[in-house]
Amino acid sequence: MRRPAAFALAILGATALVPVAPAGSSCHVTYVERETPVGIESRQRTDLRAPGLAGVRLTIAGRVLDERCRPLPGVLLQFWQTDGNGVYDRAGNRLHGHQYTDARGRYSVQTIVPGTYGTRTPHIHVGFRTRGGLQGITELYLPSTVRAYGMDVGTLNARDGWFDERNVLRLGPRRGNGYAATFDFVFARR
Ligand SMILES: [Fe+2]
Repeated sequence: MRRPAAFALAILGATALVPVAPAGSSCHVTYVERETPVGIESRQRTDLRAPGLAGVRLTIAGRVLDERCRPLPGVLLQFWQTDGNGVYDRAGNRLHGHQYTDARGRYSVQTIVPGTYGTRTPHIHVGFRTRGGLQGITELYLPSTVRAYGMDVGTLNARDGWFDERNVLRLGPRRGNGYAATFDFVFARR
């Protein structure tokens, strides 16, 4: 999402992300790939990793807000993605999980940086369902400035027709074998 310049973030620990929006501000709605029914097809968990799973660690934290920047609690968020080699776990449930935003609209997920397959740039699929009944799927992307597993993400983003700049993670600097990222989803309230 594009955030107004006055929109400041205060990060209070790994999972507490508190947007501070001035009165009367508006939040830009997240790009939604497709509005479609979203069922629960995964285990409820915030850590999508599995023992022995290799890859660059990635933690994403943020909130789900409405277009007036008010938190949306109880929103179903379901994440699924490939491993670092661009392979989905179709037999098990690795790198697939769902959760619900808390009373302040917060979520966090621990995973790894996804790989690439075919013409796809690294991406994380996200299914969502608000209490108001808005549901659909979208994707999160890496900034074009990073490299992952030797890949030039900028080149991959540029040639992937699904890529959308509005859904790029705000990625912090790499620390050790991992990144911390933030992303606030904004869904129109119904
Ligand atoms: Fe995919």
